[in-house]
Amino acid sequence: MVNPRRLTAQPHGEIRRVFDDIFMVRGRFRMTGGPPIAFSRNMVIIRHDTSLTLVNSVQLSEAGLERLAELGKVDNVIRLAGFHGADDRFYKERFGATIYAVAGQVYARGFGQNVSAKDQYFSADVEIDETSKLPVPGAMLETISSARPPEGLLLLEREGGILIAGDALQNWATTDPYFNLLGKLMMRAMGFIKPFAIGPGWLKTAKPDPRDLRNILDLPFEHVLPAHGDSVIGGARGHWRKAIDALQLR
Ligand SMILES: [Fe+2]
Repeated sequence: MVNPRRLTAQPHGEIRRVFDDIFMVRGRFRMTGGPPIAFSRNMVIIRHDTSLTLVNSVQLSEAGLERLAELGKVDNVIRLAGFHGADDRFYKERFGATIYAVAGQVYARGFGQNVSAKDQYFSADVEIDETSKLPVPGAMLETISSARPPEGLLLLEREGGILIAGDALQNWATTDPYFNLLGKLMMRAMGFIKPFAIGPGWLKTAKPDPRDLRNILDLPFEHVLPAHGDSVIGGARGHWRKAIDALQLR
């Protein structure tokens, strides 16, 4: 999903408030370089005073950027998913945002695996791991370092624990209007459309050690804000326990 420059934003919805100072917006991602599959993805916006941190960035339209400016100033972008990041450079160029990416993630064409230096089109300003100071107060990074490329989750210590996920935890219970027909058919056929899931494509491709996923259940969280699908407010850890327990330990 990591992709060089796009000229225009893809369709997206309204920015909506999820918790105090936490907002989400859903938009379309159309794959390039293969079948023209389109599906949805979410960006999370965290506000601290007048400063905004974008997680799982989605390039917004000019109207969307105006709405974003009403919330605050885009200072930071945190990349969690090894297979995302295509729009991070937009926020660097447009707002001078500081880009944080999990150590070992690269910005290159394709899915960020087996990348040579010439394929890389951008670099993060700050590489982060579980010990890093993050731009969001009360936030902690959990890494799945066995995944290739590595993946992160961001835990916010508020509201009983809010876990923001990239591809690791997904909740596409149904498709939505940001899928195209081919996206609906193919994503259903490939088993992506189910609630409280470990991202099936990510699991297959990034091959994380299941023990790293079990560690997620030790985190104190009640809610999940995923990059794919609906947010889960309340009881989220219990909902994912079944999927994680079902993974075969190597
Ligand atoms: Fe994804």
